Amino acid sequence: MGTLDHLLQNNRAWAEGIKAQDSEFFLKLSHQQSPNYLWIGCSDSRVPANQIVGLLPGELFVHRNVSNVVEHTDLNCLSVIQFAVDVLKVKHIIVCGHYGCGGIRAALRSDRLGLIDNWLRHIQNVRQKHEKILSSITDETIRCDRLCELNVIEQTVNVSQTTVVRDAWDRGQELSVHGWIYGLQDGILRDLNICISRSDDTMLAYSRALSRFPNQEPPD
Ligand code: CO
Repeated sequence: MGTLDHLLQNNRAWAEGIKAQDSEFFLKLSHQQSPNYLWIGCSDSRVPANQIVGLLPGELFVHRNVSNVVEHTDLNCLSVIQFAVDVLKVKHIIVCGHYGCGGIRAALRSDRLGLIDNWLRHIQNVRQKHEKILSSITDETIRCDRLCELNVIEQTVNVSQTTVVRDAWDRGQELSVHGWIYGLQDGILRDLNICISRSDDTMLAYSRALSRFPNQEPPD
């Protein structure tokens, strides 16, 4: 049976490296965390949240699932949002998708992969909602990338419409919800120009983000 000793060795080296810069780092972090950001991203192994935004342990609260879906009945995701907003008092929630997302591609093609097909129904709902934009694109890769972007926009709105976020805004808590997308091919994050900081802004921000779509150039 294979062992995972190499991972445990990597861990020792990593911890030593951090302690070499700040000998109290882990001790201080063990007392409390106070991240300013909640990251909701895809489980994809190529999109490691902390690393791509250059944040250390303690600085980013993270929830990841296949294709960064925020569903109003998903107790797991909702609990993460609630804890982050009500207890940790994060100032920003970042919904981050990525181009070339396998879950999005499978949803677009209606591939049958097993249990996950049911999870990807959420993406197919997004696809159906934006059929007009998508059906006008002949290139499959570009169509998939557009759906990756549309999905981020939809999930960003879903975050803004949770009771947790609406209640936070109602009591005057400072909180912004952002939609970003990451390029696997260049390691660069792009802002999808949707940033919502009040309940009343939600639909305006949504239509503004969508208005860029019909004529938008494909990502380079
Ligand atoms: Co993905």
